Order: sequence, then C-alpha cells, then structure tokens
Amino acid sequence: MLNIAVLVSGGGTNLQAIIDAVESGKIADTKIGMVFSNNRNAYALERAKKHGIRTEVLVPKEFENRDAFNDAFYKLLTDANPDLIVLAGCLVVIPEKIVRAFAGRIINIHPSLIPSFCGTGYYGLKVHEKALERGVKVSGATVHFVDEGTDTGPIILQKPVMIRNDDTPSSLQKRIMEQAEWVILPKAIDLIARGKVSVEGSRVIIDDYDPDVIFN
Ligand code: GRF
Repeated sequence: MLNIAVLVSGGGTNLQAIIDAVESGKIADTKIGMVFSNNRNAYALERAKKHGIRTEVLVPKEFENRDAFNDAFYKLLTDANPDLIVLAGCLVVIPEKIVRAFAGRIINIHPSLIPSFCGTGYYGLKVHEKALERGVKVSGATVHFVDEGTDTGPIILQKPVMIRNDDTPSSLQKRIMEQAEWVILPKAIDLIARGKVSVEGSRVIIDDYDPDVIFN
C-alpha cells in the first residue's frame, strides 16, 4: 500500500479530489497517512479531519528562523516516512534537504502547461493572469516530480483546457481546477501506486499510456 503525505496551504480542493478518489477506489491501494499545512486556518485541514486523517501544522513565522522551521519540517516528514509526498496547493518552498531525502518521491500540481507560465513567482491567480495577458488559446495543468528547481522536474501528466474570449483569471482558474487539476492529480497518484511510472533522465515513462483512454 502506498502511504502518502499531502501538503497543503489553502482550500484543499485538490486534497478533496484525492480523498474522494481514494475512497471510491479510483486511486488504487493508497492511504493518506498525513495532511500537512503551513497555515493553521487552511480549510484543507477541516477536510482531512472529516475523513479521520492525521493533520500536522508547522507555521514558519512561529519559528525563530527559517532554518529552525526547515529542520522541524524535515523531521516531521522523515519521521512519518511516506512513500510519496503530494504537494496539493502547498505554498511552502520545499527545502533542498527534503527534496534530496525524498528524491523521486515528491509530486506537485501546477495550474499551467509547463514549461509555460511556471517558475518563481508563478502561483495562484498570477499564473492565469499571465496566460490571459499573453493571449494563449490553451492552458491547463501539469503534475510533475519535484527536483531542486521551481517547476523543473519530470512531467508525469498534463491536461489542456481551452481559453474563452470572456475568461478572467478567476474563471480560468476555476475551469482548470475542475477540468484538469482534480483529474490529473488523483490519476498520477493512482499510476504511481500501481507501479506504472518510471523516470528516464528528464522524461517520465508511463506503462500502457494512452491519452485517449487515461482520463476516462
Ligand atoms: C491549485 O490551483 C494548485 O494548482 C495550486 O494551488 C491551488 C490549490 O488549490 N498549486 P486547493 O487548495 O487545492 O483548492
């Protein structure tokens, strides 16, 4: 059984999609062992508690300095020792020490088609503002492995979402979440749980990958 830790900062709709997929069996053989938040008021924590999932909170500004927070964060995760860490709207920059300790075992959801509209400063509504400003006709979401860079790790799954004339950053954000994020994040976890995912250099290979059937 794949034991996952889900790291969140806010509303937790991606976390909810994972919980629902685990409970319905859409994600095979997986247990959410812990939900971590850097924000005590994250609604995601309520979602976890409703489903009896262990929650943990560490707030950076409650520590003496960033190193002290990073040490506590590292200890929490290495003690829990999940098979996979899922960043689901987690706004904390993951310290290098954690990335190295869990190399190839951390995934993130990003609300654009990487390598567009990603990297430092591209989070939340900013991503969608920039996509609309540039006038792209398609955006979407990406699940990728986390490496030492920002949004630079091997891409696992992507799903496109068409942009409309009347889109605002908020309407685009909402559609990308509904049509792409909540679909590909649970799917990626399921593929990993079923041992279908491997990494070759900068590329991810998924056994039996067929984009026409994978999301149905
Ligand atoms: C999502 O747009 C995700 O792609 C981004 O942060 C947002 C999290 O939303 N990284 P939620 O907390 O899952 O509702």
